[in-house]
Amino acid sequence: MARFLVIDDEQGIREVLSDILRDEGHEVLAAEDGIVGLRMLKTEPIDVVFLDVWLPNKGGIEVLQEIKQEYPEIEVIVISGHGNIDMAVRAVKMGAFDFLEKPLGLDRVLTVAGNAYKFEQLRRENTQLKLQGGHQEILGNSPGIAQVRHIIEQAAGTDSRILITGENGTGKELVAREIHQRSRRARRPFIEVNCAAIPDSLIESELFGHEKGAFTSAVGKRRGRFELADGGTLFLDEVADMSMSAQAKVLRAVQEFRFERVGGEESITADVRVIAATNKDIRAEIEAGNFREDLFFRLNVVPIHVPPLRERQDDIELLTDHFLDMFSSQHARPRPRISRPGMQRMREYHWPGNIRELKNMLERITIMAEDVDVGVAEVEASMGSGEDPVEDLLARFEGMTLGEAREQFERELIEKKLQQHDNNISQTAQALGVYPSNLHGKIRKLRIHVGK
Ligand SMILES: Nc1ncnc2c1ncn2[C@@H]1O[C@H](COP(=O)(O)OP(=O)(O)OP(=O)(O)O)[C@@H](O)[C@H]1O
Ligand SMILES: [Mg+2]
Repeated sequence: MARFLVIDDEQGIREVLSDILRDEGHEVLAAEDGIVGLRMLKTEPIDVVFLDVWLPNKGGIEVLQEIKQEYPEIEVIVISGHGNIDMAVRAVKMGAFDFLEKPLGLDRVLTVAGNAYKFEQLRRENTQLKLQGGHQEILGNSPGIAQVRHIIEQAAGTDSRILITGENGTGKELVAREIHQRSRRARRPFIEVNCAAIPDSLIESELFGHEKGAFTSAVGKRRGRFELADGGTLFLDEVADMSMSAQAKVLRAVQEFRFERVGGEESITADVRVIAATNKDIRAEIEAGNFREDLFFRLNVVPIHVPPLRERQDDIELLTDHFLDMFSSQHARPRPRISRPGMQRMREYHWPGNIRELKNMLERITIMAEDVDVGVAEVEASMGSGEDPVEDLLARFEGMTLGEAREQFERELIEKKLQQHDNNISQTAQALGVYPSNLHGKIRKLRIHVGK
């Protein structure tokens, strides 16, 4: 629910807008001129203002300037009559969110009002995020990431559809946000849909919205993400996880910029740039019959592959420096320094969880490190909390023969159990299900040091 203020000298317009918005459950205040409107803003928390450009007393443009100066977070939608569209255009150039032309159409009012409110919310969130550290730049100088940056520069300014591929945690979402930021849509919403997180039965209404009563739980009318993204960017994350029926609908929406709400007849149009991402091998999904080839061709106009971290080892040090700076200031801890061998170990590691894993590990080190100097042992101890524990485990035995791997595993397990039982041999043997004599033999053979 949002709070709107309508500033218009025509009573009819004030009433129509109030009715439409109140029907949607919003709160609406109204003022008959700019002076009264500005006075209300002083005391009432308002999200979005509808402002007539042609007003008695104080002119609309002047009121707009004052609102934007005093309350930059409030979005203003300008209303213009037939004769003063150029004034509305001027208002948009001066920072108004959008304009509506009289006579007011119900759907257009709702779309613009919804978008302005959503945008205002996103901006509040962004301000919040900025306070917490700001928009993350894509860091790295490796050829792989330089190539990604190059494609972003070329494609961002166009409206081309983009398909981003790459393993978990490689930075796909970051790339999508960067493209939006650098596009002419940057001031409009960036709307994300995680196709894997939304149950199949709800994905259509999530994407396209629904009419009241379209299905049992559809209590009110609801706009979908395609509509919310109007003028901006729609990010279809984990796109390969969408059902075939949802894919068919998305294909049409992407082809024709036209769709219907679930349970609705009316065709709705939206001006949306689509960026999709997946960590799956989408060609294999097509082979297996899980993904529509025609949709793939539609989405894959500009492909961007974000390489895994292990293929850009040269970036590890730079990223590490950045994250250590960030976390030490965020958690008010001394800035850890990673030793040469520790850094070497990080370069050799295969990073199944990619940058997200690196980031988590460095946060852990920043919080847990006993000393600012972090050696290879601590680096290793903080590793292996990637996305796939089995992969992590297997990686530790990389390059060993079966015999060596078995011995290494036995050594680690016995050491751990000894520690847990205060080096008591008979208790440890019992926990491991072997005879104490057997355990003694292993300890000798594997050269395990039993401390006291
Ligand atoms: N090049 C980079 N420079 C700085 N930070 C990065 C970079 N790449 C990724 N990150 C950070 O790593 C984390 C993971 O990135 P992101 O969420 O974009 O990955 P993803 O590919 O979308 O992952 P998933 O497949 O799991 O959804 C984020 O916190 C992001 O800010
Ligand atoms: Mg992601």
